[in-house]
Amino acid sequence: METKIEEKLQIINEIFSPSAPIESISLFVGRTAQVTKIKEAVEERGQHIVTFGSRGVGKTSLANIVRDLFKNVSTVKVTCNRSDTFRTIWDRAFSKTKFVISDKTVGFNPSVKDQVIRLYLPEKEDITAHDIEEVLSDVYNTMLIVFDEFDSISDPETRIKMADTIKSLSDNIFNITIMIIGIADNVDELLGHHSSLERCIKQIYVPIMNADESYQIIENNLPLVSLKIEKDVADRIVEYASGFPHYVHLLCKYSSQLAITEGKKTINHEHLNWAVDESISNSSQSIVSAYHLAVKSSNRKKNQFEDVVYACSLIESNTREFSSDDVIKIYNKLTASENKPETINYNLGMLCKEERGEILIKTVQAGEQKYAFKNPLMKAFVKLKVHAETNGENQ
Ligand SMILES: Nc1ncnc2c1ncn2[C@@H]1O[C@H](COP(=O)(O)OP(=O)(O)OP(=O)(O)O)[C@@H](O)[C@H]1O
Ligand SMILES: [Mg+2]
Repeated sequence: METKIEEKLQIINEIFSPSAPIESISLFVGRTAQVTKIKEAVEERGQHIVTFGSRGVGKTSLANIVRDLFKNVSTVKVTCNRSDTFRTIWDRAFSKTKFVISDKTVGFNPSVKDQVIRLYLPEKEDITAHDIEEVLSDVYNTMLIVFDEFDSISDPETRIKMADTIKSLSDNIFNITIMIIGIADNVDELLGHHSSLERCIKQIYVPIMNADESYQIIENNLPLVSLKIEKDVADRIVEYASGFPHYVHLLCKYSSQLAITEGKKTINHEHLNWAVDESISNSSQSIVSAYHLAVKSSNRKKNQFEDVVYACSLIESNTREFSSDDVIKIYNKLTASENKPETINYNLGMLCKEERGEILIKTVQAGEQKYAFKNPLMKAFVKLKVHAETNGENQ
């Protein structure tokens, strides 16, 4: 019997989760190199893990599915926040840790009693790496302790103490792996620079998704609600998402909801158009208002800023940064003109200022001036806005 519309809509909400990390390995796609590295690190004595990358690329999802990879490893995950300290994060990690040990008594009437073991921090104010090592020396199981959103902690001492903890666990305790996760371009940004840590840390960089991975999210999930998708629509979803799985989920969720509600078997352009509008209105307020400031025009006419921002979003590169040369090439194509890079330097400079939403940031690389979107997800949002304004005809 055909699954009812309500049931399919329910399934869509489960498989497309734009705002929540993946919880189940069956919905997780790609990232094979990163998964292999995590496995190796957990299995290797004295190795710990730092997972880093841009906002929204899938770091938490990666950490969540790790627990399904190992049968005999207990995993504890702590999500850190701004006001956390070394003490509060370890308090939370230990309060989530519970082991049950079967305690066999000996004698004439042997019996098996289950003993529950919990971990506690000592009662003093100033907790050190040594204290953590002491508590963890009572643990016989293999454990993975994950500290997600570590970059959000503002207390600088926590970073130093965590680096010390990793070092001392690496030297003395081999059944515990620590995994630090955060938005960063490198390990030093998360933990500070400690050359003694290099040997004991496996660095796992999570880049934006490649096109194959984005297609997989679509292809793995649509059959679960008996839907197909027009090839050009799938191509556009992957192109607009720009490597951010959040936008693949968002566009798939709304387009498949409409297709199912209309009783259609294939997602088409009209479904996509609606999904783009819905995705724009469900994007975060900070992105929406930054974009509006960036392209605002005093005389209601389309201005140069709109084309410059769009050109920036279309640059294809493995790195976040781009130069004015990169922008002008695309800008000239979009406007069918032949301008020199200097023509848009004013716009690029203004887009780094508050009055233009500060949607770009400036960096200098090897003496060359570069730019990047301040919020990397803006790249996808700009493409959606342009699609909405042109009904996808210019893209
Ligand atoms: N491997 C994956 N397969 C399918 N969907 C994914 C995958 N990784 C991430 N996603 C989806 O992408 C979105 C962002 O994922 P996630 O929250 O894990 O990213 P993050 O890097 O932790 O983000 P943040 O920097 O905001 O903490 C979510 O909608 C999630 O469901
Ligand atoms: Mg996360």
